[in-house]
Amino acid sequence: MALNPSLSPTPPMGFNTWNRFAGSINQDLIEETMSAMIEEGLARLGYVYLNIDDGWMAPERNPQGELVPDPERFPGGIARLAERAHAAGLKLGIYSCCGTKTCMGLPASYGHESQDAKTFASWGIDYLKQDWCSVPYEDFPGKSHREVAQELYGRISQGIAATNHPMVLSMCNWGDGESWQWARGIAHLWRTTSDIADVFCGETPQGAWDVVRIFEKNSQLDEYAGPGGWNDPDMLEVGNGGMSEVEYRSHFTLWCMMAAPLLIGTDLRRLDLSTRSILTNADLIAVNQDALGVQAPVVRQTDGVYTLKKPLAGGDWALAVFNASETDKTVEIDWTTLVQPGNHHIKDLWSGKNEVVQGKTCVDIPSHATQVWKRYS
Ligand code: GLA
Repeated sequence: MALNPSLSPTPPMGFNTWNRFAGSINQDLIEETMSAMIEEGLARLGYVYLNIDDGWMAPERNPQGELVPDPERFPGGIARLAERAHAAGLKLGIYSCCGTKTCMGLPASYGHESQDAKTFASWGIDYLKQDWCSVPYEDFPGKSHREVAQELYGRISQGIAATNHPMVLSMCNWGDGESWQWARGIAHLWRTTSDIADVFCGETPQGAWDVVRIFEKNSQLDEYAGPGGWNDPDMLEVGNGGMSEVEYRSHFTLWCMMAAPLLIGTDLRRLDLSTRSILTNADLIAVNQDALGVQAPVVRQTDGVYTLKKPLAGGDWALAVFNASETDKTVEIDWTTLVQPGNHHIKDLWSGKNEVVQGKTCVDIPSHATQVWKRYS
């Protein structure tokens, strides 16, 4: 039994609690975020998954062996939140882990895979992020990390399929065992890197990666992404305060070009203007959600400047030029070789400016900035 790939024809979009709130989550936060997703117009733009990450469960399973929500922080239970989300036109996501404990040390799914899938289905859960902490490798003597991951993600995937309840499965083993090579069919998206830090380029908390490092890794894996299954370079940090506006725009643009899941990770109850304008860029969201589902390959890389080209349904394309270097650059763009000869009607997806280009043009791209255009035929 395989997962239903029609649940993720384009990369999932929504919100997840972890990047901003870590383990400090409760029912009020989820309900307030739910309202904000509607009131801020985010749901209308496609951000429909409201995903609860680690920290929702009680420290012990119930006598039937089932996971239960922490009674103090989620007194109304999860099923009620799912009902409310559905009534508002949203979907509810939840978190568990393949190991014996979650990364926060709470009960996880090892040995309970089909039971947990059933519990989540009975609550009306639409999306499960399955993590990779406390994995008992000693129970699989002679097996490689890849084989153990295939076995354990296979179990939860089968468990979900057996419920017949539509549920997106997000695999979160940080790319261990080159998961992109075998995850399609088991999961709808799979992490390709370590956790993201709210840092564009530079020192990060231990174990976390900055945006540039994540981009450099994930951008090489374009051949594995496509309708039904997506590379996941981790959730968005846009709005969390560790980067400049230019850097957050680059982060968002690159994730859109790489057909990455767009999971907002900031406090939606207090959105500032700049954060809102980035997350609600409808032209870029359309590039991310394009039906062809191509992850833009890097078509040119020189001197710390990356050019990505994303073919779009209907024969158009988006082109992004990212200056990852520490100096401002003037970049020559040869439209004839990068795309095709002729006049191109293009729109700058940040300024909104339309222009016609042909042959070669030069653009100034400040350090850490990304310029992105879409061709309209
Ligand atoms: C891991 C995951 C994160 C988050 C935390 C929760 O580090 O990669 O995305 O889910 O666990 O503990």
